[in-house]
Amino acid sequence: MIKSGPIAVFDSGYGGLTVLKEISQLLPQYDYLYLGDNARAPYGTRSYETVYQYTLECVEWFFKQGCSLVILACNTASAKALRTIQQKDLYKLGVDKRVLGVIRPTTEIIGQFTQTGQVGVLGTTGTILSNSYPIEINKFFPDIKVYQESCPIWVPLIENNEYLSPGADYFVQKHVQQLLEKSGDIDCILLACTHYPVLMDKIKQFIPSSINIISQGAIVAKSLQDYLSRHPIIEEQCSKQGNIQFFTTDSTEDFDGHAPVFFGKAVKSSHLSL
Ligand code: DGL
Repeated sequence: MIKSGPIAVFDSGYGGLTVLKEISQLLPQYDYLYLGDNARAPYGTRSYETVYQYTLECVEWFFKQGCSLVILACNTASAKALRTIQQKDLYKLGVDKRVLGVIRPTTEIIGQFTQTGQVGVLGTTGTILSNSYPIEINKFFPDIKVYQESCPIWVPLIENNEYLSPGADYFVQKHVQQLLEKSGDIDCILLACTHYPVLMDKIKQFIPSSINIISQGAIVAKSLQDYLSRHPIIEEQCSKQGNIQFFTTDSTEDFDGHAPVFFGKAVKSSHLSL
């Protein structure tokens, strides 16, 4: 008898909620377990080793809760920890377990959104310095030119509820301008951080309307749907009662107060000490 458990969705903090929102809308039949490692966010400025250790700890916790499938709904964790976990840890943690990230689902279809073949990527310092996006995009689309800009202040602004402040305007404009100065032909900008969709309105103020701005939630949700249809054994291990549980490593009060901005609905979280 196969034991089933919720689909796990992980982020350093709130950002993964923008992905869970889309996934749970597209696939409402499944159970989900969300963990935001808010106590240790942001991950974007941390070393490979630290991001890997933190992410692995959270993945192990999900597996102990009975999850078979973990989505790292965090670009930084996907860029800096996913491959090592898949290659070095997964076989020890369970042959029937899977960990997926958000970079591949996005890069494999990015070509649909550009006519000029010039794509801009905005992300955390960790994601940008890892070069994961240019490398992965060029595997699928060798002719696409990728321009990158790291926005180290954006996640702290968002995590600290300052994303509507004039300070946020300054930093959003600064990084968007710096990206656009790298090429006049960018016609598609990828928000390669799951926190950034909450800045969408601000970002739009500083970008010509002819440029496509791509956020990942809906893309990851569609890709998960395809994955589950192609992997029936994993799909069978996903429980289906339509429940969503939320955990945070920091204050549940803060989490519940702030999460609706990302998830679009009220949430009631529990605390996890790691
Ligand atoms: N949402 C995470 C991402 O997609 C934010 C990383 C951070 O904590 O800095 O990269």
